[in-house]
Amino acid sequence: MIKKSLIILTVMIFAAGTLFAGGAQESGAADPGSLTFYAGLQEDHAAMIAEEFEAATGIKTEFVRMSSGEILARLKAEKDNMTASVWYGGPIDGIVAADQEGIIEHYVSPEAVNIREGFKDPNGVWTGIYIGYLGFVGNKAILAEKGLAMPTSWADFLKPEYNQEIVVAHPGSSGTAYTMLATLVQIMGEDQAMEYFKKFSPQVRQYTKSGTAPGRMAGLGETTVGITFLHDAIKYKKEGYSDIIISAPAEGTGYEIGGVALLKGGPDQENAKKFIDWVLTKDVQEMGKTVGSFQFLTNKDALPPEEAMPIKDTKLINYDFQWAGENKQRLVERFSVETSTTAPTE
Ligand code: G6P
Repeated sequence: MIKKSLIILTVMIFAAGTLFAGGAQESGAADPGSLTFYAGLQEDHAAMIAEEFEAATGIKTEFVRMSSGEILARLKAEKDNMTASVWYGGPIDGIVAADQEGIIEHYVSPEAVNIREGFKDPNGVWTGIYIGYLGFVGNKAILAEKGLAMPTSWADFLKPEYNQEIVVAHPGSSGTAYTMLATLVQIMGEDQAMEYFKKFSPQVRQYTKSGTAPGRMAGLGETTVGITFLHDAIKYKKEGYSDIIISAPAEGTGYEIGGVALLKGGPDQENAKKFIDWVLTKDVQEMGKTVGSFQFLTNKDALPPEEAMPIKDTKLINYDFQWAGENKQRLVERFSVETSTTAPTE
């Protein structure tokens, strides 16, 4: 009898062991997996988000930072063999353009209910994560040295005294610069804006690849003035480039909605959705300011960074994002032809 019980016990222990092993295998199967996203916002912001998302979920997270036009070009090339699953950050004009190419998987996140009206696409093409205002940056020491005033209108850039004093990104690579292009077309009409750019372009000392470069260069004294998102100039000033000054154009300026979108055919769709849900939350949006991202935020409960308060009354135009996205490729091509310029690759 005792012997029989022992045998039963042994069988039970063995079975339990097998079950346990099975359980372990199952937790192996529940490996959280991985995620790659293409980041259109500042590199340090993307790195912090990747690290925090991985810590929160166990999902191994990697990213590549590119300017908006580069992301679009990369996605078009990878369309049939996607390596990333999310487009995170950068103006939504690029995401709208990508949607036209059939690259975006429409996804309405359950978190989108907490995003303010007007800052999310009802069909889930994109969801807004932040808002940034376009403006001017300058180096006050160099301006004083050259006896120049800080520009305060788009018209100012055509004045002879700013010849070769301006740095701006190229709209072919940069979402910031495309915001400038689409802004002036919306203010002036397309033909007038192209006439403007034909006169503006010879004034420009350098077209950069990324939209943040003019702010950094103004801080370093490598340019007198530039055009950039104002929050980027505020970031560099706070980082110690104390000669930076900013202004906004009297005619009004354009702005970006920085967005997040799910990529069609990406390798990690479920993790991508988790990521999108997570980055839309109040807490994650508010993390941006810890790395010097001072955009206004789209979550209705998120507090805007204090650093953005001095620019909150900037005169904005009624920027049409859908139109801007749908016309992006055509307008960039026309800009390049009319100004005889191309986007730098470095
Ligand atoms: C910076 C800004 C973002 C903006 C992005 C566009 O990272 O902080 O608000 O979306 O530039 O970058 P790009 O290089 O495409 O102009």
